[in-house]
Amino acid sequence: MKGVFTILKRFLPPYKKYGALIFIFNALTAIFSIFSFVTIIPILQILFRISSKSYYFIPWNSPDMSFTKIIQNNGYWYITHLVENYGASTTLLGLAIWLMIITIFKTGTAYFGSYFLVPIRTGIVRDIRNQINDKILALPIGFFSEERKGDILARMSGDVDEVERSVLSSLVLILKNPILIVTYLTTMLIISWELTLFVFILLPVTSYAMGTVGRKLKQKSLDAQNKWGELMSQVEETLSGLKIIKAFNAEGKISQRFRDGNKKLRKITARIIRRQELASPLGEFLGTLTIVIVLCFGGTLILQGRGVIDAPTFMFYITIFFNIISPAKEFSKSAYTIQRGLASMERIDEILTAENTIVEKENPEKLTFEKQIEYNNVWFKYNGDWVIKGINLRIQKGKTIALVGESGSGKSTLVDLLLRFYDVQKGEILIDGTNIKDVSLNDLRSLIGIVTQEAILFNDTFFNNIAFGVEHATREEVVKAAKIANAHNFIMATPNGYDTVVGERGEKLSGGQRQRVCIARAVLKNPQIFIFDEATSALDSVSEKLVQNALENIMKDRTTIMIAHRLSTIRNADEIYVIHQGTIVEKGNHDELYNRNGYYWKLCNMQINFQ
Ligand SMILES: Nc1ncnc2c1ncn2[C@@H]1O[C@H](COP(=O)(O)OP(=O)(O)O)[C@@H](O)[C@H]1O
Ligand SMILES: [Mg+2]
Repeated sequence: MKGVFTILKRFLPPYKKYGALIFIFNALTAIFSIFSFVTIIPILQILFRISSKSYYFIPWNSPDMSFTKIIQNNGYWYITHLVENYGASTTLLGLAIWLMIITIFKTGTAYFGSYFLVPIRTGIVRDIRNQINDKILALPIGFFSEERKGDILARMSGDVDEVERSVLSSLVLILKNPILIVTYLTTMLIISWELTLFVFILLPVTSYAMGTVGRKLKQKSLDAQNKWGELMSQVEETLSGLKIIKAFNAEGKISQRFRDGNKKLRKITARIIRRQELASPLGEFLGTLTIVIVLCFGGTLILQGRGVIDAPTFMFYITIFFNIISPAKEFSKSAYTIQRGLASMERIDEILTAENTIVEKENPEKLTFEKQIEYNNVWFKYNGDWVIKGINLRIQKGKTIALVGESGSGKSTLVDLLLRFYDVQKGEILIDGTNIKDVSLNDLRSLIGIVTQEAILFNDTFFNNIAFGVEHATREEVVKAAKIANAHNFIMATPNGYDTVVGERGEKLSGGQRQRVCIARAVLKNPQIFIFDEATSALDSVSEKLVQNALENIMKDRTTIMIAHRLSTIRNADEIYVIHQGTIVEKGNHDELYNRNGYYWKLCNMQINFQ
């Protein structure tokens, strides 16, 4: 039961007023229900001609009788009065109409009770999804490994749905069932406290029996959702690797892998559903059993003439009792849904409460860039071994430096550290003497424009892709940036020019075109520092030439860090650093390094590209 409140306490507060409305309408429903049930008494009386007694009206404030007895007596008196004056059939018809009217009120208020549940359940789901999305944007790059992406999608869809169901159950459990139960029980107590006492002894026994059925459900749900997350990751991988899968005829392999996981998921889910389904027949059986016991007990008393109530009232009593069973049963049924919701919430919380390791300083210092960037004895590792080992670098403002070295030597990592995608573990990175950890991330990243090997475009227009990093860019500015990046001409050749929507991930464009759009994006941002991380490595020589020209257009008088495979791109760099296994093994300009016959010379001769 504690679980019911944990989720609600977190997410319900903004929707309190709906909670109050639901409560009011449910209370009305309960009262109207009682009024509709009570009709059974006169109907039975008339049909079975049970009452041969004549009743007299007793004043409402009579001191001789309890108020409930007066209500009962006067009710009977009124009905016999009606039957005498209008006949039994007409009275029956009147009762039927009364029942219809009451039922309209009952179902109407019940509808509004559910109506106001809608803004709560949809609102809470929206809030959780927003929170997850914002958290994804806030968490450092290091949090998201490839395997994790599909899993995060699974949490955002499947787990949020589970939470929604659990919220719904919790609300019904808190705002509806207790009201019904209390109202019905009170009525039962008023009718006959002796019988109700008997029922009270019976109920806990049956509900305990129900509760013991499924304690392990939460663990099972966790397993199922985790499996689901794994499968989603696989689908994500399949989608992005479709070309390779087909080219290597690996469809069978991938299909088998998915089938295996899917089979396990089915097994777990089947077990969960079976357990859940057990609640319903078990509940019904125990409910009927309870009613039968009460029926036998009360019925015997009445038949022996020792009844504390008359037969029609007993039927009324049984009707109410019958109706109390279903909300009581829901308690145990909801327990399952809530357990599943809690399991899912746990998985969602793994994202929501994940620690952001890139901490921003509370009162950040102002960032200026007038002199230089310094890496002072920088050390960094991802998980295992050190990837960056004591790097020292000075980059003067306005200069172009190049980082070269074989793949895996740590070049990309080195620039990621400057952008604070990761934090250095030893040493420091300074800009004009200020540690980049002491300035705001926004200021730091405003300073830098990056173009990577993987040209990332969003499923949006060319205009919006280029204007991505700038608020309120004008068309002229965007066109100007595209021209500098050699992208203007091919953009204009597309059907809608700058308003053409680039396919998802820019699939409809060639690598070189994508890259030039990315460069236009970086140009428009107009940063003080440019980073090109193998921006031309994936291109053919014609595209490369175009991109290369684009780069040269914008590098003039700007601080540039260039990571490249090809000699042509780095020949003119002011300083070249050769990185090998996380350390700088040589530095100098091209001629110095080449003539040294060292590592750089070897790299140049080893790689055809490097000539
Ligand atoms: N996200 C990551 N998690 C773990 N290891 C990584 C990650 N990114 C890179 N590495 C490892 O760090 C080393 C340096 O990688 P990287 O900086 O990308 O090299 P380069 O850009 O010079 O090719 C490599 O050994 C690589 O396997
Ligand atoms: Mg790299």
